[in-house]
Amino acid sequence: MGNFSYKNGALHAEGVNLTALAERHGTPAYVYSRAAIEANWRAYADACAGRDALVCYSVKANGNLAILNLLARLGSGFDIVSGGELERVIAAGGEPGKVVFSGTGKRADEMARALEAGIHCFNVESEAELLRLDEIAGQMSLTAPVSIRVNPDIDPDTHPYIATGLRGNKFGVDHEEALEIYRLADRLGHITATGIDCHIGSQITSTGPYVDAVKKLLALLGHLEKTGISVSHIDIGGGLGISYRDETAPDAAGFAGVISDLVPARYGIILEPGRSIVGNAGVLLTRVEYLKANREKHFAVVDASMNDLLRPSLYQAWHDIIPVSERADGAQAEYDVVGPICETGDFLGLGRSLSLGPDDLLAVMCAGAYGFSMSSNYNARPRAVELLVDGERGHVIRERETVGQLMAGEKILPA
Ligand code: LLP
Repeated sequence: MGNFSYKNGALHAEGVNLTALAERHGTPAYVYSRAAIEANWRAYADACAGRDALVCYSVKANGNLAILNLLARLGSGFDIVSGGELERVIAAGGEPGKVVFSGTGKRADEMARALEAGIHCFNVESEAELLRLDEIAGQMSLTAPVSIRVNPDIDPDTHPYIATGLRGNKFGVDHEEALEIYRLADRLGHITATGIDCHIGSQITSTGPYVDAVKKLLALLGHLEKTGISVSHIDIGGGLGISYRDETAPDAAGFAGVISDLVPARYGIILEPGRSIVGNAGVLLTRVEYLKANREKHFAVVDASMNDLLRPSLYQAWHDIIPVSERADGAQAEYDVVGPICETGDFLGLGRSLSLGPDDLLAVMCAGAYGFSMSSNYNARPRAVELLVDGERGHVIRERETVGQLMAGEKILPA
């Protein structure tokens, strides 16, 4: 549990008692640990020390400004997939020169803004995108630095929705087509190919698929170099998994070490980790509203829902759910932990052995990545407050949304 632990039966984030935090700020609430985020980022950076390497935190995992700012202070780069994420990085004090822009559908205005900001590299996913980028850079009298995102056709052995490096996926260009696209890039006046890129998926729990992918990229670079085209960096993407339940994922240091050993020293390395930086650094606090049972089941109806944490409903993802105060009596039952949303698929966990009473607080663990960032306002539910614990102090890093904010942009037709 890392920076989340029980002290005298009370769950703490670093030095802060989570019951006290929930009483002060209400629930549902996301709580993150600064120490955990920083340690996770440093594990990558330290493992790459001595190499020309850039750890680009993947903003989509959790784009809160306070978190981006902490990482920027450590010297992190950022992996973005939209103009909105670029503005977040800039607002948080991140350096545009350390930003890589991934994504299959970059709009013209997003490209122009990224060029104007002077980002490090565009990870280009199709020939059409390359041509558009050349045109826009030309209009701005600039040259766009690019990597071609290659689809290495490798099975990362993860949930099908988050496997991205297979031939049937929408991402990147086929391995076989990549040479042609580099040749095209070489002919275009406002493009300079600086790297090669892949991202094979997410929640990957072994290094094998990465090793296979890197070998394919290196073979491709070998062919390219024979035709007189060379690049200076290899971007391996993100995707390293974490342990939600009983998975054993390689640690960041071991993983970065394997990559660093494989990639010849003449190339710089870019990594784009998201989940492995913030995943285990956050929990979702929720309070039991009602306990109920039918002939088949016990339900704990809690105040967090699929709009707050979509992963269990969307990917059947398993998050540990633990009491914030350990109960002495300990009589357990099997509960489906469900939210108030009107969908049968609205659950945080099914069949969990818990000892519960009304108003109890629960912590949904490992919720720091793709938790708040995938939350929605379904059922007109304002999004949760976000809190960042730093030692003995808890800081509000995003106020709880209000219903007024949800309706703010809406207009009624004139009578
Ligand atoms: N780079 C690119 C190009 C990506 O598409 C992603 C994630 C990352 C880096 C970061 O991957 P990570 O290190 O976080 O695995 N919502 C899903 C995960 C979707 C991942 C999308 N791409 C989930 O909750 O499991």
